Amino acid sequence: MYKTKVVIGAQWGDEGKGKISDFLAQNADVVVRYQGGNNAGHSIEFDGKRYALKHIPSGVFNPKTLNIMAQGMVINPKMLLDEMKELENKGIVNHNLVISDRAHVIFPYHLEIDSKLEELKEKKYGTKIGTTKKGIGPAYEDKYARVGIRFGDFINLKTFKSRLKETLFIKNMFLKSMGMKQYNVDEIFNEYKEYAKKLSPLVRETGLYLSKIIEEGKVVLFEGAQGVLLCIENGTYPYVTSSSPTASSVPLGTGLSPKHVLNAMGIVKSYTTRVGAGALPTEIEDEKISSHIREVGREYGTVTGRPRRIGWLDTVVLKHSIRVSGLNEIAITLIDVLDDLEEIKIGYSYNLDGKEIDFIPGSNEVYDSLKTNYITMPGWKKDITKVTSWNELPIEAQNYILKIEELIGVKITIFSVGPDRKQTIYR
Ligand code: GDP
Ligand code: IMO
Ligand code: MG
Repeated sequence: MYKTKVVIGAQWGDEGKGKISDFLAQNADVVVRYQGGNNAGHSIEFDGKRYALKHIPSGVFNPKTLNIMAQGMVINPKMLLDEMKELENKGIVNHNLVISDRAHVIFPYHLEIDSKLEELKEKKYGTKIGTTKKGIGPAYEDKYARVGIRFGDFINLKTFKSRLKETLFIKNMFLKSMGMKQYNVDEIFNEYKEYAKKLSPLVRETGLYLSKIIEEGKVVLFEGAQGVLLCIENGTYPYVTSSSPTASSVPLGTGLSPKHVLNAMGIVKSYTTRVGAGALPTEIEDEKISSHIREVGREYGTVTGRPRRIGWLDTVVLKHSIRVSGLNEIAITLIDVLDDLEEIKIGYSYNLDGKEIDFIPGSNEVYDSLKTNYITMPGWKKDITKVTSWNELPIEAQNYILKIEELIGVKITIFSVGPDRKQTIYR
């Protein structure tokens, strides 16, 4: 059978996908990012050093692993080169990076449109999404409007220039109507051709390659970015990202078929966070508790530095992610962040118009009138960061994990008690 696994953020992102992907990548031949771009921020720690990856797959720390940025991604070439340099400065020089020739390029106008739309929506209706302003939405819009530029065309300078001409013809009309700066072809071409030349050796066909090595029995890990509740299809629309961070998008985002994606591991933070606007049904109102969790868990955005909103764990959310992504095992992270709490709550259902529901409503408007139902569990009030096995966990911490497992009906196979690679434990 194929040795493939996808790592999925089961909440609103920042669940510790980078940490768990790096841990699993110690035994992976290939790690693949298949959606999103540098809106992702995946933090990894080992040997006393901390790294933040944006585009680059978390297999980059295993010199034996090949790291593919597959066709479903949108990639900012300038920022990718910076990211590579940053790794080199920290001594990670052997990147083993490949970029799919079908991945799309993010250009400066994507970032500007992203910011402008947010600004306009906020001014007029007070409804900005709180995007990362990395141009992700506008880049995917161009892809679907068929005016995007793929890496295969980007590195062929003649094709790049003619595609850019066509794209800017359309874009400039839009930019003008928005009262924004318009671009001339040479302005972008002259800068971006240098990035194209630098990245050119990394660009190649990847779908055929992946299917071949999977058939050969190589271990392939697909690393999701964001989280299921930020999915353009299954998330809390419109407060979502512009791609699908679910297992369903692995085939499309890689050029494989669904038969190649057999195992899906959900990454679950032992509470909930969200950056940006939108529903968070278990948001903690007690400022003392939420700021305690924020400080202990260092809950500030890896990409934007924004303080993350804090909520209790929500098993309605988890069951939704399990269903739409076929999660067959769970890794639970940041349990140590709850070490000092007297009591810990779990949201398990919502009340809507006097009826109890346990699914994620399709309309964002509904969230204003939802009331969440909670179970309260006793805290363990002990430092668990040095725990190295299940049996060493205080009984209250074991019970908390077992209760989650009971509520969601999926096995928790890994638990994590600190940011370091070594603080990751198989149960
Ligand atoms: P990702 O986007 O899903 O990869 O997650 P982020 O890296 O954005 O956010 C997760 C944060 O939690 C990072 O700062 C990690 O270093 C940290 N982290 C991961 N697992 C643990 C854990 O078990 N305990 C603690 N204290 N921190 C953790
Ligand atoms: P990782 O991979 C947390 C959020 C943004 C915003 C919404 C849309 O680190 O878990 P976008 O820039 O994608 O158009 O923003 O999605 N968002 C994330 N939140 N973690 C992420 O990635 C995120 N990527 C996007 O804050 O609410
Ligand atoms: Mg993150």
